[in-house]
Amino acid sequence: MIQRLWMISVIFILVGCQTPPEPIHDEEIEPVQSLSVDDITVGLSMDTLIEERWQKDRDMFSEAVQELGADIIVKAANGNDALQIAQAERMISDGVDVLVLVPHNAEAAATIVGRAQAAGIPVISYDRLVKNANVDLYISFDNEEVGRLQAEAMLKAVPSGQYVYIGGASTDNNAHLMREGVYEVLKPHIDAGRIQVVYDEWTDAWKPSEAKANMLEALSANDHDIDAVIAANDATAGGVIEALKEAGIEQTIPIVGQDAELQGITRLIDDQQLMTVYKSIKALTQKAAEVAIKLAKDEPLETSHLINNGKKDVPTIFLTPVSVTKETIKETVIDDGFHSHESIYLE
Ligand code: GAL
Repeated sequence: MIQRLWMISVIFILVGCQTPPEPIHDEEIEPVQSLSVDDITVGLSMDTLIEERWQKDRDMFSEAVQELGADIIVKAANGNDALQIAQAERMISDGVDVLVLVPHNAEAAATIVGRAQAAGIPVISYDRLVKNANVDLYISFDNEEVGRLQAEAMLKAVPSGQYVYIGGASTDNNAHLMREGVYEVLKPHIDAGRIQVVYDEWTDAWKPSEAKANMLEALSANDHDIDAVIAANDATAGGVIEALKEAGIEQTIPIVGQDAELQGITRLIDDQQLMTVYKSIKALTQKAAEVAIKLAKDEPLETSHLINNGKKDVPTIFLTPVSVTKETIKETVIDDGFHSHESIYLE
């Protein structure tokens, strides 16, 4: 009995002590301080630095982020998914404020996005889209347009005949978009019987050596009767040219590429390549740095598109690729500072 009385009194005391909470006045709520830019660290997780353009992406993006006053950590995974995941996890546990991700494998990288989201770190899919993941923003070039530009340039030079398509890496969502753009333009000509695509293969990890092996296979499967080659980028176009040399093919078969690499530009001048596609890495990296810092500061973003990645409609910023031929090198890659006149014309 005494015990129960004692209990009741204790309850009363506890309840009685609980004075009703004071109403909180607005001026007492600490506004969530958005990060000041010099407190921000941007993490850049890259697939590879093998291709020339990725070295420029790394350098120009790092510069743009630092010019805006933030810090940056960069890791490249040499095409190794497990390494990319481990590197990104390290950046997440080190507390980067935003993660900028160039996935090696569009599907496998979803793991990274999940980990970052769990840590409250926003993720930007840079140049390549991460599939089936809760990405905050996707920024790239219109990659279908890359394919359209390549096919249009080739059709002008070779309106009918046997075509070879040397695709990019099937793990890279861009390679699928570029291929769609190529076929969108070629289809009416294929349906009309003017064009036959006699060989079409992905290139493992975008490797020039793989592109060379595929081109040798295409040549032998078609008794060397090939009129045109659309290669997904300049590096794979280089592999195609090696294959033609090895097969002893003297006459120049029209080839188009992408990325406006120095080797690609030089081949335009030597009439060994018909065209390449230029994507202003300067414009991409400046825009990406700007939006990365806005995302870290939780500020609103202006986007141009919504792209579904299998999980959601991802807010997207698209930049426009341009075609480059021997005649337009100056007003494209030189005027934009991508290559110097000296480096191209070796003065
Ligand atoms: C693609 C990119 C191309 C090309 C390729 C090889 O995703 O859009 O510009 O460089 O990767 O790394």
